[in-house]
Amino acid sequence: MPIDLAVVPVAGRGTRLLPLTKSQPKEMLPVGFKPVVQYVVEELARCGMHRVLFITGPGKAAIENHFDVDAELIDHLRESGKEELLDELAFEREDLQYFYTRQRRQLGLGHAVLCAEPVVGSQNFVVALGDSIIGLHAQSQVVRTMADHFESAAAAAVIAFEEVPREEVVHYGIARPAGEVNEVFDLEDLVEKPEVEDAPSNLAVAARYVFSPAIFDYLRKTEPGKGGEIQLTDAIRALIRDGGRVMGVRLPAGQPRFDIGNFESYFQAFVEFALADPGHGRQIREFAKTLLAKYAEAR
Ligand code: G1P
Repeated sequence: MPIDLAVVPVAGRGTRLLPLTKSQPKEMLPVGFKPVVQYVVEELARCGMHRVLFITGPGKAAIENHFDVDAELIDHLRESGKEELLDELAFEREDLQYFYTRQRRQLGLGHAVLCAEPVVGSQNFVVALGDSIIGLHAQSQVVRTMADHFESAAAAAVIAFEEVPREEVVHYGIARPAGEVNEVFDLEDLVEKPEVEDAPSNLAVAARYVFSPAIFDYLRKTEPGKGGEIQLTDAIRALIRDGGRVMGVRLPAGQPRFDIGNFESYFQAFVEFALADPGHGRQIREFAKTLLAKYAEAR
């Protein structure tokens, strides 16, 4: 059966985005017209997923509400003659079923994925981090490409990678490729957030994974690692050591990852989505030109 189940971890507290995230989930922060997690879900739907399992935590109820059908709002729009706004709620009718489970202790991303086991069982599945958008406007098919490689190579895992500037390797899981790096490549090892001088490459894990359920056995055995957390990276590493085939797929050109995990990358994402917006982009680009001139003078 083709992979159609995606696990979306959204349990992290978003401490790098305080005070913005004190009482709202970072996955609900706006980027252009939509909250971040809506781009993620729309991308997954376009890649053939039919079931989405959110791994939630304290303070994340807004995510459940966002993907619910809001009958009261629909009635209100109809009754008040604002039917054209119903289009904005079209995402509520995506051909997707939603499931939710809570990570009851903040023990890290690896532990969050392990919380999915009772639902995932013995199926292959996707993991898509709820705080990262791939490409502008969720048009990316990279998850489909990854699932196709996973199936045709009978891999144990396939991971999306993006090249990052050398000084940024400290924020990501970093690949040690086995041999030449093409669009698709095999992994020899994976290191979570290495120091710049220890990094085996500048290929960073880019928030999308495909796994066989074997990953759960490794997650159960994974001890706390970087930052005292149970790291997904460490489980993948052990899987490779045991001879599992783990492959990397590079994000296609023109489909960068927008990481909504810190202020700089959040600002960058917001600015680019606004500049590229089909409706408002032209005016915003004009506005940005005047701003750039103003700030160039101020410098
Ligand atoms: C997590 C993973 C890391 C990965 C990153 C982006 O880190 O642990 O390997 O590179 O997501 O996909 P976090 O951003 O949760 O610290």
